[in-house]
Amino acid sequence: MNFYIETYGCQMNERDSEEINALLRMEGHFETNSSRNADIIIINTCSVREKPSQKALSAVGRYIKSKNQGKKIVAICGCFAKQEGERLKERFPNIDLIFGPQQIKDLPILLNQVLKERRSIIDTSDTGYVNEEKFLIDKDSVTAFVNITKGCDNFCSFCIVPYLRGREFSRPKTVILEEIKKRVENGVKEITILGQNVNSYYDKHSNTDFVDLLEDIHSIEGLERIRFTTSHPKDVSNKLIMAFSYLPKLCNHIHLPVQSGSDRILSLMNRKYSRQHYIEITKKLRDIRKNISITTDIIVGFPTETDQDFEDTLSLVEEVKFDTAFSFKYSPRPMTIAYRKLRDDVPPKTKEIRLKILQGRIEEIAQEKNRNLEGKVLDVLVEEKSEKFQGQYISRTSCNRVVNIISNEELKGKIVKVKITKALKHSLLGELWKGEHHEESRSSRNIA
Ligand code: 5AD
Ligand code: SF4
Repeated sequence: MNFYIETYGCQMNERDSEEINALLRMEGHFETNSSRNADIIIINTCSVREKPSQKALSAVGRYIKSKNQGKKIVAICGCFAKQEGERLKERFPNIDLIFGPQQIKDLPILLNQVLKERRSIIDTSDTGYVNEEKFLIDKDSVTAFVNITKGCDNFCSFCIVPYLRGREFSRPKTVILEEIKKRVENGVKEITILGQNVNSYYDKHSNTDFVDLLEDIHSIEGLERIRFTTSHPKDVSNKLIMAFSYLPKLCNHIHLPVQSGSDRILSLMNRKYSRQHYIEITKKLRDIRKNISITTDIIVGFPTETDQDFEDTLSLVEEVKFDTAFSFKYSPRPMTIAYRKLRDDVPPKTKEIRLKILQGRIEEIAQEKNRNLEGKVLDVLVEEKSEKFQGQYISRTSCNRVVNIISNEELKGKIVKVKITKALKHSLLGELWKGEHHEESRSSRNIA
């Protein structure tokens, strides 16, 4: 049968969709990128914020409507499916399958059951064990995601993840290293290691913490670049900061969600660090790698947030000068502490205005930083040919900026030097650089 997957939400969900994809292909099904040709439609949903959940719901509604008399199977999975469970069945009585993040490996069994019994199946149970991945992707890709931890124990007061993805679990080091080696053998040059809170990784059997793991990954031959996301500021150790000085494959980027610049709000959010501590981390990182790209997530309109609290967030943005940032209006999520204990008292209009002001400033800083790269020569990893612009390749700098290069040489999978010719709004244009390279070398303190 042909299957089609639509994914909403974070990289964790993207990775889960890859897993579902590999699993279904191993069962003899075929991937299609059009829902029209699909016999099985799977909507992988995110529950972290309200907006993606709403988008996923309307997609489900659309697909259920277009279902032709029992021929198509429409399934919904992921965090939102787990959160809503039976309620989704009430809302969409024709849905065939509802399953949670912990049931991915059971998908072939669940699908067979749906086909045989011709009834809807709901399985969003807490299995109590972690869905250990066995299925590797054999796609022809230069970059890949690899999970190192699952779940989260932090219980930030706004966040639903710990309730839906369960307790934090670190995959054994041996399994992770084996998976990365296989991917590198398949041609992958850059790995992004994933977890809700990667820097609290700890494999107790081998006594391996996050930096130990990074060192082991670093020694894998053929692997050119390592990225990781997401890190929690409270777990950024000096050991991790130092790792940027002696692990040149570590990309020049850290995504470090700050959420707010106000100590009062940070405490209500249960983030367990202060504004000052956060700023100190960013300073130390920039001492080690002058041009390190620091990106973040920020929430505006958290319950009780005053104009002064918001000003504190703006002044933090001014002080840290993020390379870019994702910002969101607070939305109450079921089960969370903020939902249970705090009234969502910042008026929608105020949230809207604060978000606009914040995003405006973030954008200005980001563009100024991009413009400063014009004329510079940087190393980029070429990921693929652009589908949108013929004759162009999409590549990425170490600091995670996209550079489009016009070239008729075969570049996919190569690290090449490019001269940045123009800074666009969200990306850069560049041309292959054949001259001498005066700037950053990979092992210096200045990798861009
Ligand atoms: N409201 C708004 N934003 C949220 N995030 C998580 N939960 C909420 C919520 N209830 C944001 C945080 C997090 C990112 C993935 O989503 O900024 O870092
Ligand atoms: Fe959510 Fe906080 Fe865990 Fe991140 S660290 S997943 S924001 S609870």
